[in-house]
Amino acid sequence: MNKILVTGATGRHGGTGAHVVRRLREEGGDVRVLARSRSGRTEALEALGAEVVLGDLRDRRSIVPALRDVEQVYFTYPIDAGVIAAAANFAAAARESGTAPRTVVMSMGPAHPGHPSPRGRDQWLAEEVLQWAGLDVLVLRVAAAFHENVPALHGRSVREEGVIRNCFGDGPVAWINGADAAELAVAALLHPDRFTAPVCYPVGAEELSHHEIAAVLAERFGRPVRFEPVSAERWHRELVALSEVDDVVNPDMAGHITSVARRVAEHGSTMAADRAALALLIGREPVTFREFAQTL
Ligand SMILES: NC(=O)c1ccc[n+]([C@@H]2O[C@H](COP(=O)([O-])OP(=O)(O)OC[C@H]3O[C@@H](n4cnc5c(N)ncnc54)[C@H](OP(=O)(O)O)[C@@H]3O)[C@@H](O)[C@H]2O)c1
Repeated sequence: MNKILVTGATGRHGGTGAHVVRRLREEGGDVRVLARSRSGRTEALEALGAEVVLGDLRDRRSIVPALRDVEQVYFTYPIDAGVIAAAANFAAAARESGTAPRTVVMSMGPAHPGHPSPRGRDQWLAEEVLQWAGLDVLVLRVAAAFHENVPALHGRSVREEGVIRNCFGDGPVAWINGADAAELAVAALLHPDRFTAPVCYPVGAEELSHHEIAAVLAERFGRPVRFEPVSAERWHRELVALSEVDDVVNPDMAGHITSVARRVAEHGSTMAADRAALALLIGREPVTFREFAQTL
């Protein structure tokens, strides 16, 4: 297997990059990680046998050496401002290094030029930039919410008040585990034949309303947990307040997720989950929310 550069491997939200590193190493892959700083997380990646180089996706100068001898890249960026600059710097570095690595991009269903969320529009534009640069790009617009959103966005209120409050409404939402989203990227790197179009929309493993999510958590923790639908404005205020004391949630994410949730409440989930289709792509059974809840 040729050298693969993995970005975003120190993530604390979906954590897809770390999973990609672990799986590629299990398959005997030659993995280099681009990280912004050294930490216990980079030490853990080194312990898996990955090479860690320091750099920043928004600094082209640091990406050029990271791309040396690299043939494939896993590109991910958090739900935060700056993805267009990250993609443009990455594209410029790839062109400068002359390697034109095949690049698998972690993306989301809301990556669309007409989406109400600025982060959704930015993600789409970032992907356009990578394609305009002439790179060989495979974009995974995962059309489901990560299980990991539940502890990230609601962990505190579940612990302190036994409640999940948001503006998704009462209807079902498509869900996928972060590890399964990462496994899509692993499959795209190791089995490109499973992906027929340069931009694809992998679907979730199951659909659950937030009432059902609350019921699973109540069973898991052995105490009442309920779902309380609130307005987008109220949830946005709560998430911005959370971002002041939490290092996963940021104000841009607060705006993005409330915008996505409001759209789901008004129009329903845009794509249905399809467990069998996801299993076929990742080559194993997807993780259920009930299984994920056992890890909390
Ligand atoms: N959450 C969902 O429901 C959902 C659903 C579908 C798709 N997605 C997609 O998943 C992607 C996010 O993946 P994830 O959850 O695995 O990410 P994550 O856990 O939030 O990790 C983000 C990573 O990016 C790194 N990073 C941030 N800024 C950087 C920069 N300037 N240069 C280099 N690295 C930088 C972070 O490093 P530090 O440790 O230094 O901060 C971290 O390692 C997004 O594209 C999103 O659209 C999410």
